[in-house]
Amino acid sequence: MRLDLERGPLEDVAAEFSGTPGLFQLYTPTDRDLAESLVHRAEAAGFAGIVVTLDTWLTGWRPRDLATSNFPQLRGQCLANYTSDPHFRSQVDADLDADPRAGVLHWAGVFGKSLTWDDLTWLRSLTTLPLILKGICHPDDARRARDYGIDGIYCSNHGGRQANGGLPAIDCLPGVVEAAGDLPVLFDSGVRTGTDVVKALALGASAVGIGRPYAYGLALGGVDGIVHVLRSILAEADLTMAVDGYRDLAALTDDAIRRC
Ligand SMILES: Cc1cc2nc3c(=O)[nH]c(=O)nc-3n(C[C@H](O)[C@H](O)[C@H](O)COP(=O)(O)O)c2cc1C
Repeated sequence: MRLDLERGPLEDVAAEFSGTPGLFQLYTPTDRDLAESLVHRAEAAGFAGIVVTLDTWLTGWRPRDLATSNFPQLRGQCLANYTSDPHFRSQVDADLDADPRAGVLHWAGVFGKSLTWDDLTWLRSLTTLPLILKGICHPDDARRARDYGIDGIYCSNHGGRQANGGLPAIDCLPGVVEAAGDLPVLFDSGVRTGTDVVKALALGASAVGIGRPYAYGLALGGVDGIVHVLRSILAEADLTMAVDGYRDLAALTDDAIRRC
């Protein structure tokens, strides 16, 4: 086994932002000091906000991953934020470079603290950066997040990867937007085209994300592939707005949507 040390930790990612705001995605570990260290590193590196993912304390039933034994972290990959972390390193009683397995085992022990609402007060106390909760699909949760002083809601069902047969995130979006009031609502899950982006914006999303499409672009064409995917989605969204006569985002409201 080899630790994936050459794949950059969050500081290397931040060094490439060149003006684009970056959001740091936090899975809160069971070790609060490690969470604090990660949040402070993200702050120091210049991330514009912390996205706390709520819906993956357990991994869902993923037959393809099971069939291929796909769990990169257990092979020592995708762990650079942890293995570069001074607090994480201080907790491992081994030389990580000589004994990468020790890092993997320690990571497996600290990954995935299921957050309670009251933990948000602690999380809030760690940083002045905007806090965004990812994985909100119910209006009551959006309202509660607002009550806890959260700065943004991320409506997402994790691309359907967690609970097979769950509600489509796009169906949850209008209720979440209404409950979020003046908080921004980011959205993803199932967005594949520019028209999908336009629909989500019309339903009140403040920003729309994609997951798998950029990974497909990367697999097929490297960085150029990602650029191509993003350009294509943006171009289609832009053209769709023009074709349908929406001059700007302000003109795009849920009147644009007809439900059959
Ligand atoms: C391979 C893979 C890994 C992912 N890992 C994370 C993760 O670590 N944290 C997270 O918040 N979401 C993760 N997601 C979910 C994405 O952030 C996003 O919510 C989802 O992919 C959007 O749906 P889409 O793939 O249909 O566009 C992952 C998605 C994929 C496909």
